[in-house]
Amino acid sequence: MTAYAGDNRPDLSAFWMPFTANRQFKADPRLLVAAAGMHYRAEDGREILDGTAGLWCVNAGHGRPEIAEAVHRQLMTLDFAPPFQMSHPIAFEFARALTTIAPQGLDRVFFTNSGSEAVDTALKIAMAYHAARGEGQRTRLIGRERSYHGVGFGGLSVGGLVNNRRGFVTLPGVDHLPHTHDLEKNAFSRGLPDHGVEKADDLERLVALHGAETIAAVIVEPVAGSAGVLPPPVGYLERLRALCDRHGLLLIFDEVITGFGRLGAPFAAQYFGVTPDLMTTAKGITNAAVPMGAVFVRRGIHDALMQGPETAIEFFHGYTYSGHPVACAAGLATLDIYRREDLFARCASLAPVWEEAVHSLRGRANVIDIRNLGLMAAIELAPRKGAPGARGYEVLNRALAAGLLVRVTADVIALSPPLIVSPDQIARIVEILGPVIDTVA
Ligand SMILES: Cc1ncc(COP(=O)(O)O)c(C=O)c1O
Repeated sequence: MTAYAGDNRPDLSAFWMPFTANRQFKADPRLLVAAAGMHYRAEDGREILDGTAGLWCVNAGHGRPEIAEAVHRQLMTLDFAPPFQMSHPIAFEFARALTTIAPQGLDRVFFTNSGSEAVDTALKIAMAYHAARGEGQRTRLIGRERSYHGVGFGGLSVGGLVNNRRGFVTLPGVDHLPHTHDLEKNAFSRGLPDHGVEKADDLERLVALHGAETIAAVIVEPVAGSAGVLPPPVGYLERLRALCDRHGLLLIFDEVITGFGRLGAPFAAQYFGVTPDLMTTAKGITNAAVPMGAVFVRRGIHDALMQGPETAIEFFHGYTYSGHPVACAAGLATLDIYRREDLFARCASLAPVWEEAVHSLRGRANVIDIRNLGLMAAIELAPRKGAPGARGYEVLNRALAAGLLVRVTADVIALSPPLIVSPDQIARIVEILGPVIDTVA
């Protein structure tokens, strides 16, 4: 099929693009028109190596026929069924299949359509759980600086990125832990940084300030992604878990990026050996072929809400498309691929190759830090004087011109290739990126 080529580009004016400098983009668009395996195809027919798995989501690579066929079959069998007081078998089948790779005990699944919805759902479950146990005063939420939890009002409030929060009303009763990024002590760490476990202790300060009995939950990304790939300091997540246990707070891991193999285990929870009470996911759940999200819930939390008369709806929450049959079909086919191709283990075995490769960029122009874990990495550039973000944006454009898709947040270049990436393609990523970084003065 010929997709859009440069000479039949559609009118770009109507689509208000998300998280994009719309006018700048429309003056000089970057359009991808097709994808297969590890590559996108640009409008002009050039192959672009996908260094970002789309947007941290196409973990099994592009254009998987198994997923396309499952989606087609499902659409022709049952395109949609109402999810409230009705349902369809594949939602149950997919939820059950997900529990086979979930951390021990997190075997109840609430479906959403995105990571943002998963986060807001998890925050509401946390409050509902405490209320069901007679502790309805536990409504306070603790997030962390430099975190991203989507763009719903809940996720925005617990999130810690100022540009996303500025100008919007956020939820009352939200506080934040300090972020763990410490360039002075941890620059060029390989894997987990050594310094900063004590940043978790700030939770004690917040408990002392607000009272544990007012706090519902703490939410963190096990590895902060959108804020620029910030792996947690050694021991940090373990300490957070212990503090949450001490004070009766639920711990939520936002695994929208780290879930589905990005670190070489199904979820970061298993990678770190730290089990949260709730876990939010999306992206790789369907290999991004159909929008979907899911909240994994510890059984005891679910069961605490299954009270009262059997005729009563236990949780007044849900989406028209919760457990959409087509998303579930895509998800089942995706899980099959992950299992059949052992992609999570493949990620684990490639991680050392990846680490070597990305750290070989040390010494390139303006590189002030390189961070990595699993198949995630960030290369941080010093901001240009008076023009923060300019270097990052130039790298994005020049890498694309050289045949590589990267993601940039300000002056941090983030990389997260599909888990099918080959060692040669890893080498190619740094081969393209190194000279590009050097050209950005
Ligand atoms: C950790 C995290 N949480 C939540 C979200 C929001 O997901 P979505 O864009 O699907 O709403 C993202 C998106 O990148 C994310 O990285």
